[in-house]
Formats: sequence, C-alpha cells, structure tokens
Amino acid sequence: MGAGSNSGPDVAFAEISDFGTDSSFAEITDSQWKQFRTPYFLVDESRLIRNLEILKQVSDQSGCKILLAQKAFSMFSCYPLFRRYLAGTTASGLHEARLGHEEFGKETHVFSPAYREDEFEELLRYADDFVFNSPAQVRKFALRAKAAGKSVGLRLNPECSTQEGHAIYDPCAPGSRLGTTRENFEEELLPLLDGFHFHTLCEQDSDALAVTAAAVEEKFGRYLAGRKWVNFGGGHHITRPGYDRETLIRVIRHFQSAYGVEVYLEPGEAVVLNAGFLAATVLEIVHNQMEIAILDASAACHMPDVLEMPYRPPVQFGGEPGEKAYTYRLAGPTCLAGDVIGDYSFDRPLREGDLVIFEDMALYTMVKTNTFNGMRLPSLVYRDAVGRSRLVRSFGYEDFKERLS
Ligand SMILES: Cc1ncc(COP(=O)(O)O)c(C=O)c1O
Repeated sequence: MGAGSNSGPDVAFAEISDFGTDSSFAEITDSQWKQFRTPYFLVDESRLIRNLEILKQVSDQSGCKILLAQKAFSMFSCYPLFRRYLAGTTASGLHEARLGHEEFGKETHVFSPAYREDEFEELLRYADDFVFNSPAQVRKFALRAKAAGKSVGLRLNPECSTQEGHAIYDPCAPGSRLGTTRENFEEELLPLLDGFHFHTLCEQDSDALAVTAAAVEEKFGRYLAGRKWVNFGGGHHITRPGYDRETLIRVIRHFQSAYGVEVYLEPGEAVVLNAGFLAATVLEIVHNQMEIAILDASAACHMPDVLEMPYRPPVQFGGEPGEKAYTYRLAGPTCLAGDVIGDYSFDRPLREGDLVIFEDMALYTMVKTNTFNGMRLPSLVYRDAVGRSRLVRSFGYEDFKERLS
C-alpha cells in the first residue's frame, strides 16, 4: 500500500493560534523597537513556543522524533527551550555537529555529501547518527562509525521531484549529487545500514511527502524492512497555517507499521517559521524615477536568500507597490546595485530615522549573514514570553576583520 493511502488516523489537534505574517506584532511599540541599535534580529519566544508545541503534538501523536536542522537556525541561546520539545539536532558537518552536541545535547545526527578524512575522527566525538550520501562514502567511513558505536544510514534519492520553481532546492533535479539513486544502490552494503534518509522537499505540504514516500517505497521498499530508522529529511512546512498534519502523521504511521522503523523528521524552517524579525532604520531617501529608501540592513549581507531564492519578506505595515499611498523601493547600503529587498507601499511617507521591520526573519538569515563591504552583522535580540527583550550579542569591527588575515 502506498504511504499516502492508509486509512486516516484519529488525530485531534489542540487549537494553537496562527500568528500569520500580518501586523499582529504591533504590540511592540516603536520606542521598544528603538531600544537597540539597528540592524538587529529579534527572535520571539512566544512564537517559537507556538511552533514547538505544534511539532511536539506531531511527535506525540505519530511517535516520530523531530530534530532541529541547524543549517536553518543555530541561535544556540534558544537551545535550552528547544530541548524541551525536540529530540535533538541534525548537522551538515563538523561545526554544526559540535554545536549541537555541546549546546543542545540529546541526539546529534549528521549528513554531509562527502565527509573529510581529516575531520572524521573528531566528528565521531560529536555525532550519534551518520548519514552517508553514496555507497563509496559508506565503504570509506561506515565501519569506523560502527566501531565507535554509531548508527549508520544512507541518503536515498527517489528521483521524484515534487516542487516547482526552486530548482536549486530540488535534490531530485536531474544531475543532482544528493542521495543514492536506485541505479547506484549496492545491496551488499545493507548489513552496514541501520537506516535510510531522504530529503527532497522545500517549504512543502504533506501531500508532496506522501508522493515522495510512495516513490521511496516503490524504488527501495524491499530494503526498508530490517532497517531501524528512516529519516524523512526537512522541507516540511508543518507550522505553516493550513499545513495538513493528518497526512503527515498517516505517512509516518504507515512507515512505522509496515517496516518496523523509527521515523525522524528534521525540519529547519518549521521550527522558527514567523518567529523572527529584522529591524532596520531608514538612513536616506533618494529619488530616481521612484522613491528609494536606503536602509541600514542589506539584502546581500543580512538576508541573502532574498536575492538567492529569491524571496520577498513581509514588511510590517507594508503593502504591495501602489496598494497604499506611498511606495518605496527598500534597498541596502552596500555598493551592489542589486542590493534591493523589494518595493513596498506604506500609509504614510517614510522619513530618515524611521524603523522598517521585516517579518519571518529567523530562518536562513543569521546563519547566512556576511560582512561584504565591511557591513556590521546585525545584533541578536531575544524577546521572552513575557515581552522583555534582551541583547544576546552584538558585532563590530573585529568580527569583520578576524576572517580576513
Ligand atoms: C538534509 C537536509 N535536512 C534538513 C533540511 C532542512 O530543511 P528545511 O529548513 O526546509 O526544513 C535541509 C535543508 O536544506 C537538508 O538539506
């Protein structure tokens, strides 16, 4: 039976409010935002807890384990909170594995397309579960991992693309290096493999997971029984309003009962979705066919996914161009002509010194910041559940300089 075609689980979810991405954060006043030097990321505990409670419900009701994918968010001062809800972390290599091991604890998983010989011994100190990308990597490293008491898995490529528009985020795209295809699978390695891993989704609902899981079963089904675990990767937008959690739970339960495996999910985005903000200040307004506000926050340095993905972040009180009376291009202070966040409209004119608050800015932001042009990295601010904000970290010249000579 296909993963998505089981009869429905009897799942009842407690009501958890949806924050959405509208202006519901107006509860922070202008003077509160102005307590800290911009630009800064503000991470909001109540919003984290909302996401974590949804994830906990999913793991309680399905019996799966959920890990934080640190590549999306590694503000480790939040890890004591996360630890109360999640089973551990997953890492993309040595440094994230060490961070997860030292700051989070619980289970530390790691996947890398190709491990380095000169880092592997150290990695064995931090990670509990190793996922290898290819039979060659299994042959190179699995026996050493096993001898150190680690769990070992292989990443599968089910060659089943379910996403449109974001080819660079599609591990099943033709020519992808990620995961082992059916053609490259080597049955002789099965005795070494405790588990399988597949990661194919990006910001998707569980219908795409059901399609992918069915493809995994079709191609690799005969190898699933006898494994201890299957990791469904990330890209599950579980905490997004309207996400179909029933289907997710149905697919998890199907794998558990059909193959006797433990199921892991390793979302990044879903853990911190809509839980962070980037506060910026208008430095100057210039005019060239349109009004352009130069901010102290840069797309290129502080939110590179805006350019890379590309993606348009919501702006508090901001509308589409022309929707409200005053339209501005919001742009960064670097030399890059394309350092543009987007065009937005407001009810009143923007002036020098005004705050601009970008929403949904926790995921894939602070882990990707850079100091191009010598730009200062945004400070990190944490707002606790009773509404008190504190500066966690600020950055300066040394953070720019120390990487350069
Ligand atoms: C192997 C793996 N696991 C988990 C994730 C986390 O994905 P997301 O943040 O979209 O949930 C990624 C993202 O690229 C990934 O490559």
